[in-house]
Amino acid sequence: MGTKIVGLGVYLPEKVLTNFDLEKMVDTSDEWITTRTGIKERRIAENETVVDLAVKAAEEAISNAGIEKTEVDAVVLATLSPQLGFPATACLVQERLGLPHSAMSFDISAACSGFLYGLDIADAYLKSKKKKTVLVIGAEKLSSIIDWKDRSTCVLFGDGAGAAVVRYEENDESDILSSKLYTKGEAWNILYREPCGYLKMEGRKVFKEAVSGMTKSSLEAIEEAGLRPEDIDLVIPHQANFRIIKALAEKLGIPLEKVYVNVNRYGNTSAASIPIAMYEAYRKGKLKRGMNVLLTAMGGGLTWGSMVVRF
Ligand code: UT7
Repeated sequence: MGTKIVGLGVYLPEKVLTNFDLEKMVDTSDEWITTRTGIKERRIAENETVVDLAVKAAEEAISNAGIEKTEVDAVVLATLSPQLGFPATACLVQERLGLPHSAMSFDISAACSGFLYGLDIADAYLKSKKKKTVLVIGAEKLSSIIDWKDRSTCVLFGDGAGAAVVRYEENDESDILSSKLYTKGEAWNILYREPCGYLKMEGRKVFKEAVSGMTKSSLEAIEEAGLRPEDIDLVIPHQANFRIIKALAEKLGIPLEKVYVNVNRYGNTSAASIPIAMYEAYRKGKLKRGMNVLLTAMGGGLTWGSMVVRF
């Protein structure tokens, strides 16, 4: 018995922005973006709001979970590109989905680690029996907070949403086995956004923090789960940069074949990146029930951490 992800959903906007498109917008090249990041293209929400993206992903997750909307009793939405200053984007999603008023809904601001923070909160509510069904969403319209004249950031990010319905199941082997989440507020100024301003990042510093933080917390989460790196069947890392993912795999001693990568197609979708990757891995048969899955992320805050899930 344990906490089980019973349904996943995704929504990616149709418009594709390629590296070649970006070459026409800023002083960059497909060669630079590909070799430095692994990104080839990303999705851009032209006519959709972040609420639209979140609602579409959540509807699919609810449908795949085979539950009624009335069963959802909490919505935890992770985003760094909310629809409004307040109320929370989760409230707008609760209204659009037609969820009951008892579905307590709130946002969490933990940047690219947001989905892991959300999953951890859901796990705590479920294990304490305060909630039975939690909808965890990561949704981003990063194109709305990017300075499209700043080549050091605009080539990196994309829009999208992913959602998971999470429940406590008495007769199931699935569970969240461990969770090691961290915050280092003193480094907030290497990745941030001022109110109504643009996203700013000191890439090189964030890169170093990402490799060391994700590696260390991954090893801790694996140990806390009572496992060794070789027991991990699949790694689903935050998709920011293929070089970070490769360095992480090397340091963990886990072959790249066991690591799911889609940063080439969507760029960095921040809080949405892990649920989008989980969904795709599941659809492709790479993520299967019973697998030991390592989730790991690093983002603004700084926030970072890792979880081991028996899927
Ligand atoms: O999701 C939250 C976590 N975020 C991350 O994990 C991102 C972490 N950081 C990174 O992924 C990398 O640091 C970047 C991809 C952002 C940058 O790669 P880098 O290898 O660290 O490059 P850099 O920032 O050191 O820049 C190298 C050069 C610079 O030129 P000079 O000073 O060497 O002449 C930049 O001006 O590349 C230049 N540059 C570009 N050139 C062409 C920066 N951006 C671009 C660009 N196109 N888009």
